[in-house]
Amino acid sequence: MSAPAARTTAAADPIIRVQALKIHFPVRGSDETIKAVDGVSFAVAAGETLGVIGESGSGKSTLGRALVGLIAPSAGTVEQRGEDIFALPARELRRRRRDFQIIFQDPHAALNPRRRVLASVREPLDIAREGGTAERQARALVMLERVGIGAEQAERYPHELSGGQKQRVNIARALVLRPSILVADEATSALDVSIQADILNLYLELQAEFGLTYVCITHDLAVAMHISDRIAVMYLGRFMEYGPTAAISRAPLHPYTKALLSAEPVALPSRFAQDARIVLQGEIPSPIAPPSGCRFRTRCPIAADRCAAEEPAWREAAPGHWIACHFAVSDA
Ligand SMILES: Nc1ncnc2c1ncn2[C@@H]1O[C@H](COP(=O)(O)OP(=O)(O)OP(=O)(O)O)[C@@H](O)[C@H]1O
Ligand code: SF4
Ligand SMILES: [Mg+2]
Repeated sequence: MSAPAARTTAAADPIIRVQALKIHFPVRGSDETIKAVDGVSFAVAAGETLGVIGESGSGKSTLGRALVGLIAPSAGTVEQRGEDIFALPARELRRRRRDFQIIFQDPHAALNPRRRVLASVREPLDIAREGGTAERQARALVMLERVGIGAEQAERYPHELSGGQKQRVNIARALVLRPSILVADEATSALDVSIQADILNLYLELQAEFGLTYVCITHDLAVAMHISDRIAVMYLGRFMEYGPTAAISRAPLHPYTKALLSAEPVALPSRFAQDARIVLQGEIPSPIAPPSGCRFRTRCPIAADRCAAEEPAWREAAPGHWIACHFAVSDA
């Protein structure tokens, strides 16, 4: 597989570049492996948002964890600012990790229940030994204030906050060290739709304010469409389609993307009024033994003999718009 976005976004000097990344997990008591991520290549330009969408089990979270150095590749590389992060000595990787942060789905589980939220937000500064205690306290308070948590709420324990407030605290905790890259893994999925919109808009504001590069992992198409500059559609460890959000939402090329979009039309502007989760007929095959040829073929409405025999090339169907399908064509 070639490196798609290496060409699509190279002009902007990508801050993240992933090349031929594979993450295979061993299966206990067997020689087989779970191919959670199975050969993806892309780049993200500084200040951009990449939305990664796909059904449950497609490898989104595994990819997200690799992007912030939490899971080492089985093959391939993850570069931040041109440096292979997994080639760094462990100590150096720990030191750099402040520059790339991740927020997870469950706002309740991410915070220590026995700590006041101010202490939780201050903790990354404490660990990094940034300034004196008073300065850390002040910086944590400023960040909490910025995400909409006032001084009184900052003294509360997590169980004394709503889900939306807790996710605001998680955002403050992730941003207090001023990272360049933020990966959000289903960061709004657990919230009510009305609160989701507030939190997503907060992400957008903070992105502009802090110049964040943002990777938004979600199985909610509406969320991805709302905040992403580009979208990657993932299936069984691979990208099926990648391109500008406008092009993908207007004219998706890959049969999988079309199925996702038709299953749950993304109605604008009332997009948050519905739960645009991905629903598709049939089961996603096992990532231990993906189908031969095109791995989407067992569910593809236009699959032909060639699809079982030959793996589709990763090709640029329109400028900056990449797909893995023998037949899909673009009018662009
Ligand atoms: N630590 C692990 N050990 C073994 N298998 C794993 C591990 N983490 C993930 N997997 C497997 O890898 C595949 C991809 O999982 P992943 O969590 O990345 O998917 P996902 O797209 O994030 O799904 P969801 O939308 O449900 O969060 C799944 O089959 C999963 O069971
Ligand atoms: S290569 Fe074949 S099976 Fe795969 S998406 Fe295209 S038409 Fe469907
Ligand atoms: Mg996940």
